[in-house]
Amino acid sequence: MRVTFLGHACFIVESAAGRVIFDPFLSGNDQASVGPDQVEVEAVLLTHGHGDHVGDAVSIARRTQAPVVAVYELATLLGWRGVDARAQHIGGACDYPFGRVKFTHATHGTGYVDEANQTITYCGGAAGILYTAAGRTVYHLGDTGLTADLELVGRRHRIDVALLPIGDHFTMGPDDAAEAVRLIRPRIAVPCHYDTFPAIRQDPAAFAAAVGDAAEVRLLAPGDSLEC
Ligand code: NI
Ligand code: MN
Repeated sequence: MRVTFLGHACFIVESAAGRVIFDPFLSGNDQASVGPDQVEVEAVLLTHGHGDHVGDAVSIARRTQAPVVAVYELATLLGWRGVDARAQHIGGACDYPFGRVKFTHATHGTGYVDEANQTITYCGGAAGILYTAAGRTVYHLGDTGLTADLELVGRRHRIDVALLPIGDHFTMGPDDAAEAVRLIRPRIAVPCHYDTFPAIRQDPAAFAAAVGDAAEVRLLAPGDSLEC
């Protein structure tokens, strides 16, 4: 399995089962390593309804015909925008041709913000996603604070790669994210959701130091991949 970081919380995961993209915030992200028109995937997986995660999901899904997998309320909202939306919810798993998707709880908000009309549309709760394909499991934590629920996820699933926010301010910072690694017990930990904008500037080396030998920390710049 190959995991490629595209910037912020966006990753492409490729295996014999196919290619999926998580949280495709590419347009308007100066650090994104590709544009949305360059993305070819079999599915779009979304952790929650904030703009820096939904990103280009609708345009990618319309162009590639890839289904969009999200919690029920967010899936319904995106279905109204003309994508093939597949609704699940926290705690539930589904098997697809491109792999198994299970949603976990994340401690965070969610809502689609319409600045022009000053409205926020409820998007059903923030989630993490366990994605299993070709015998490997990637855990994208989404946006979350440190929560004891993570220990349960680690107990119930053998995680090969954990993708964790470390930006602080809106999510865990490096120290809490390192504690999350100790709860989840992945083989490999990859920090994300930092340095995209000034409020979430962080030193990923501090995260790596705090993790110590609890997992192999891989620091990926946008465009970098790892094999697992
Ligand atoms: Ni968020
Ligand atoms: Mn976010």
